[in-house]
Amino acid sequence: MRLVLGSWSSIIFALMYPERFKNQVALVTGGAQGIGMTVALRLGREGAHIVLLDRNADALAKAVEVFVAQKVPVSTIQGDIANESEIEHAMESVVSQQGRLDVVVHCAAIVGPTNTPLAEVKVEDFDQVYEVNLRGSMIVTKQALKAMLPNKYGRILLLASIAGKEGNAGMSPYSSTKAGVIGLVKSAGKDYAESGVTINALAPAVIRTPMVDECHPDQVKYMTDKIPMKRCGTLDEVAAIACWIVSREAGFNTGATFDLSGGRAVY
Ligand SMILES: NC(=O)c1ccc[n+]([C@@H]2O[C@H](COP(=O)([O-])OP(=O)(O)OC[C@H]3O[C@@H](n4cnc5c(N)ncnc54)[C@H](O)[C@@H]3O)[C@@H](O)[C@H]2O)c1
Repeated sequence: MRLVLGSWSSIIFALMYPERFKNQVALVTGGAQGIGMTVALRLGREGAHIVLLDRNADALAKAVEVFVAQKVPVSTIQGDIANESEIEHAMESVVSQQGRLDVVVHCAAIVGPTNTPLAEVKVEDFDQVYEVNLRGSMIVTKQALKAMLPNKYGRILLLASIAGKEGNAGMSPYSSTKAGVIGLVKSAGKDYAESGVTINALAPAVIRTPMVDECHPDQVKYMTDKIPMKRCGTLDEVAAIACWIVSREAGFNTGATFDLSGGRAVY
């Protein structure tokens, strides 16, 4: 068991979860900050070799400093999830350099217009959100499958959102693309149900990250007021459920969207 000294919480969870991801390789898109970075850190502390993929080179460099400080091995790839050849090359290079790819947690996304009713949304803005959030999710899932299917094992987790289940007023591009992610997972999960590769989604309510900081303050109030627990979710709470979904233990779950909404979701 590997203990990362210096933090009581890391010692406690190392005792609770003895390297669930030992000898595994995990790629996290959007891993340079926010939810992606937190999930990646926990996967790494639990034994996985981590590859962070993000389009933001400066944020990737800062993330590496955090991983090094916590003694978690990490590699990085600068890439755009909306560009299929870049993502195909990224997945192939992980398999050729690390020998395998076991886990993909797909967090890269953009929020697009907020506090903006549909009649005021520019088509160009909608297209941009679609290209990253839904088309990019299809590209990441397709290329992850190509890397994982030969091993007959894999765990793919796509970050959807409560906005995709319920719709947030003022956020129609984001909400509709996240609904698309939920549909993508339902369908692809069935396509590969007998392959050893599971494909699931997670639908959080508000988690304080740079993405939420980009939203209009009225939008953040609207979303937070809707949470029955009257608080935001924490990054640690996201990492806990995400890491279970991509662990070997979660062998009978595919095509599902897991809730993380403090009671907001009713289905
Ligand atoms: N934070 C929340 O409240 C919340 C709630 C529900 C769902 N989510 C979802 O969780 C995921 C992570 O959200 P977050 O809050 O950590 O976001 P964030 O904005 O803090 O981080 C997103 C990361 O994705 C990267 N990225 C964006 N577009 C990219 C592209 N085309 N190619 C490669 N990298 C790209 C960014 O550079 C950034 O590092 C997203 O899918 C988001 O929609 C977040």
